[in-house]
Amino acid sequence: MAELLDIEIMSLGAQGDGVGTHNDTPVFVPFTMPGDKVRAKVNESRRNGLYSELVEILSPSAERQTPACAHFGACGGCQLQFFDDGTYKAWVRERALMALGQHGFEDVTVLEPAISPKASRRRVALKALRTAAGVVLGFNERQSHTIIDVSMCPVTRSELTALFAPLRALLVAILDQRMAATVHMALTASGVDMLIDAPKALDLAARESLSEFANEHDLAALHWQEQGFLDPVAIRREPVMDFAGARVVLPPASFVQATEEGEAALTRAVTKACEGFGRVADLFCGLGTFTFPLARNHQVLAAEGAKSSLDALTAAANISSGFKQIIPRHRDLFRRPLTAAELKIFDAVVFDPPRAGASAQVAELAKSEVPRIVAVSCNPNTFSRDARTLADGGYVLESVLPVDQFLWSPHLELVGVFSKI
Ligand SMILES: C[S@@+](CC[C@H](N)C(=O)[O-])C[C@H]1O[C@@H](n2cnc3c(N)ncnc32)[C@H](O)[C@@H]1O
Repeated sequence: MAELLDIEIMSLGAQGDGVGTHNDTPVFVPFTMPGDKVRAKVNESRRNGLYSELVEILSPSAERQTPACAHFGACGGCQLQFFDDGTYKAWVRERALMALGQHGFEDVTVLEPAISPKASRRRVALKALRTAAGVVLGFNERQSHTIIDVSMCPVTRSELTALFAPLRALLVAILDQRMAATVHMALTASGVDMLIDAPKALDLAARESLSEFANEHDLAALHWQEQGFLDPVAIRREPVMDFAGARVVLPPASFVQATEEGEAALTRAVTKACEGFGRVADLFCGLGTFTFPLARNHQVLAAEGAKSSLDALTAAANISSGFKQIIPRHRDLFRRPLTAAELKIFDAVVFDPPRAGASAQVAELAKSEVPRIVAVSCNPNTFSRDARTLADGGYVLESVLPVDQFLWSPHLELVGVFSKI
């Protein structure tokens, strides 16, 4: 029988689990926080400790608050929503400090976190499954593929949550029994951009109901994707994002920052860090979230690996006014980073890679003499690894800003500002 332990939670792990000890071995207990006394059932022993599930809270921490969501505990998102606001903010800082500490950064200035409010998430990917009883639509359970049928989502914009119930009714008529689908939604400046990915070609009736759905709910665009084939079922308006006055038309399922508030905080930090520096390279620029605000004051080289994103950025740059020169560059920065020699002409470099980080590009930056580097990252661990490479190359990490666009989850963005000594 699995071992039951009564323990006091003393700290938090990097994934937001409460941590206590048993015979000097760390015990990780999800859905707990420092100050809780809990009974936990040990499920697994790993190299770094015992992994358990919460059986009972014997005595709660005073910092607990009532979770805002009816699906708390079942749904895999928002596992920290029982933290009160102050404790949550402290944990966000702590999360950054923990990752930095693992790479030898002990005395870094970590700024006041910018935490996006409730109901601000503007892009979501919902899982759907057709069952005998109807369509289950929502998010996966924690560490499982089971879908939790959600009726509410307090972190998501109401324009998107309003579509949850109508989507179920729509998909009941289209999906075959046991068929799974993923619904990607992004709220753009011209309305909701939706892409439904399912292993089924559309017949006429399905196409008509999708088109009616797009009209009824005033979607900007609705694409159906079957095994990589993209079918533009209803393009009612071009989905656009506004970056510092430039209107960029979104290719389907493009990357946009998860909240407007998060995007604003990141943009402010990036543009401020580049103030007073001349020519800027914006690496992993995507659709130009930072390129356009930077190009109000700087000549910008915008480098990106996804051709569709760079084409959208280029098209917007070609028809927009009030910006300094923007030089688009299609480049795989993992395999062909800008070299230290190529970087010589830049006064500042901004890089914002995917979760894996930017090892190859950072190795070149570390050899360069670029006076200012701004690292934006959605993974505190790869951020800290890349920051170590820059520090070993003679860069000083001046400050780190935590930007939290995934309220009540351990996901965190960081903006690090570096100067060459
Ligand atoms: C986190 S997003 C950031 C995009 C943009 N800076 C923004 O804030 O919207 C990372 C970007 O890196 C791009 N990317 C991924 N792998 C790449 C590679 N090997 N070379 C160049 N760009 C890549 C993605 O297409 C994506 O646009």
